Amino acid sequence: MPFVGYYNGEFIESNTTPVPIEERGHQFGDGVYEVVRVYGGRPFLLDWHLERMENSLRAIQIANPFDRHAWVELINEAVRRSGEPESTVYWQVTRGIAPRNHVFPSANSVVSLTVRPQPPAKPANDIEAGPADHPLPPLVAWPDERWSNAFVKSINLLPNVIAKEVAHRLHAQEAMLVREGTITECSGSNVWFVKHGELYTHPTNRYILPGITRRFVLDLARESGVPVHEQALQLSDLKDVDEVFVTSTTQEIQMIGEIVVPVSQEQALHHLPSDIPSSLVESKEEFKTLWKMSAAPTVGSKLKQKFSETVHRIQDGEVTLAVRN
Ligand code: PDD
Repeated sequence: MPFVGYYNGEFIESNTTPVPIEERGHQFGDGVYEVVRVYGGRPFLLDWHLERMENSLRAIQIANPFDRHAWVELINEAVRRSGEPESTVYWQVTRGIAPRNHVFPSANSVVSLTVRPQPPAKPANDIEAGPADHPLPPLVAWPDERWSNAFVKSINLLPNVIAKEVAHRLHAQEAMLVREGTITECSGSNVWFVKHGELYTHPTNRYILPGITRRFVLDLARESGVPVHEQALQLSDLKDVDEVFVTSTTQEIQMIGEIVVPVSQEQALHHLPSDIPSSLVESKEEFKTLWKMSAAPTVGSKLKQKFSETVHRIQDGEVTLAVRN
């Protein structure tokens, strides 16, 4: 697939066009972004992503350079140019190009965008056979050190980047972020818990990103008659949890097998700031298991099945998903 890139009004051939040195996106992280998954050539839940982007822009007072229709045209044109039916489209809107000064400039906001291939979703029957013969990835619990406006999909991702690096070093799927004992979300996804057949996930307030996949999975759960509680869990609640999964545009629904915390960081989950561990030697003594899966997931598997059925219907061109507001 050809690389598809777009910067400030023009499609670009390759990643060679330099971003101007005075672009506030790279000088200040002064911007927001979105990512939409493309299935069968169709951007999935695009209206919901555009609505969230509008909220992010409004929250930090960046002017939206396009109306809804122009956004849809731009994204569809980029997907069409890529010729790739299974992809992700990332785009950023920054406060523009202006001499370095913290104060908002009068510059126009700037849009950049890329389209990249994304492997198709795993078939639904490839779902977890059970903990013994098919171990599921862990989460590592990590202090949530982000600012208090995590609902803004800011390009300023430093705490997320550090948390994800820790997860990567520990071969974990994600870092599960904990704000003074309360589980918020993960470094790049929302987190869900199942207790006695009922679903729990953090409510949408300023401390989490209101995930588009989260919103879709809430609908799937309600359609399936699974009781849902938009209620935050404490670390201490994990002892009663039966299943854990995470959701995001790129990970879809990913079941989790274990939640661990590096012993050196345990304190930090409650109050103290954390350090990036210089070395995380993977000996068992250095980790504390906070939760371990004991039986194959049932609620998560059902939702995953429903999710993948929807995706296949889109890929086969059977449905253009009607978006509810
Ligand atoms: N990340 N929470 C955080 C902190 C995220 O970065 C993401 C998504 C989510 C899930 O949101 P959604 O379902 O809309 O993808 C929750 C994307 C995939 C990313 O930055 O690549």
